[in-house]
Amino acid sequence: MENKQIVIPTFGEPEVLSIQSSAMPTPDKGEVLVKVAFAGVNPIDAKTRAGLGWAAAQNKDNLPWVLGYDISGSVVECGEDTDRFEIGDKVAGFIGFPLQGGGYSQYITVPEEMLSRIPPAVTLEAAAALPLAGQTAIQALDKVSVQEGQRVLILAGAGGVGHIAVQLAVAAKAEVFTTCSEANLDYLATLGAHAINYQFSPVSERVEDADALVDLVGGDVALDALKCLKDGAKVVTVPTLSAELICEKAKLLGFDATGMLVDPSREQLDAMLYLVSIGLLKTEIYKIYPMEQVVDAHKQMETGRTRGKILLDMQC
Ligand SMILES: NC(=O)c1ccc[n+]([C@@H]2O[C@H](COP(=O)([O-])OP(=O)(O)OC[C@H]3O[C@@H](n4cnc5c(N)ncnc54)[C@H](OP(=O)(O)O)[C@@H]3O)[C@@H](O)[C@H]2O)c1
Repeated sequence: MENKQIVIPTFGEPEVLSIQSSAMPTPDKGEVLVKVAFAGVNPIDAKTRAGLGWAAAQNKDNLPWVLGYDISGSVVECGEDTDRFEIGDKVAGFIGFPLQGGGYSQYITVPEEMLSRIPPAVTLEAAAALPLAGQTAIQALDKVSVQEGQRVLILAGAGGVGHIAVQLAVAAKAEVFTTCSEANLDYLATLGAHAINYQFSPVSERVEDADALVDLVGGDVALDALKCLKDGAKVVTVPTLSAELICEKAKLLGFDATGMLVDPSREQLDAMLYLVSIGLLKTEIYKIYPMEQVVDAHKQMETGRTRGKILLDMQC
């Protein structure tokens, strides 16, 4: 049996992405072999493919390298000393983050401790949409300790991280303001947020006295959003590239500001899968690309305008 994987043989444009056949991996002690159904695509995948950021720097001598951190699929083999899963169980995970990757594979061995069981009511597609983006959303909201009744501003509520963050903040009974283009106004209103069209006017002209800012855009957009905050507000800025600049400016203005790097947590994925299973959280899937169309998937990711998540169907 062959194991097709999507690799970057060299850094560059989306067209560098290629499919290679590898030997079928064998699970070591404590690992299970997962047949991947869907792999999530995240902005970091496109950045690493382009040779940008620390995952690229750390793997420059490791090419060809297999991208991908989000998987859903089923267990097809259990290694020694495993007892959490049986063959056929449906699982999802945030795997190999940040330096190992490997999610864009048809088969992958994973320590069983890193995998969550997918409840029967949750689809494999929804489960693949949650790991990296969902955990980023949870951890970003934790950083600003969103409380009931607070006014929270989330920039880019329609994206992979944003659409989960908006729903979790609404569920926490915060009053949620979020920015998006005109095309996403209705979508975000249905999630329970005050949706603000950033194409119409800067957010600083539309929101005031916010207790917390979750920045998923960075740069000048985030700097403008600092004008929406009340004294002593908390700020988390998630895009790593501009985090230092934004934190510096925010602290000068007296805000409690921090950047972040998402930290994989099985418990958080378990919690989100449960919320999806009882209908309290909904994943938005923009498009599922067959693995052969990974170039198009990365081109779409790089538009920066995807609503929700992009997945790769690895079952071809
Ligand atoms: N530090 C970490 O650990 C970590 C973890 C995950 C993600 N990130 C970073 O966090 C950012 C968000 O990630 P993501 O996965 O949510 O990205 P994404 O899914 O690609 O975000 C796309 C969304 O951004 C919105 N958008 C684009 N420009 C905007 C603007 N000026 N104002 C408001 N919304 C805008 C788009 O909505 P419209 O079409 O409506 O404009 C689109 O829905 C990325 O920079 C990513 O690299 C960092």
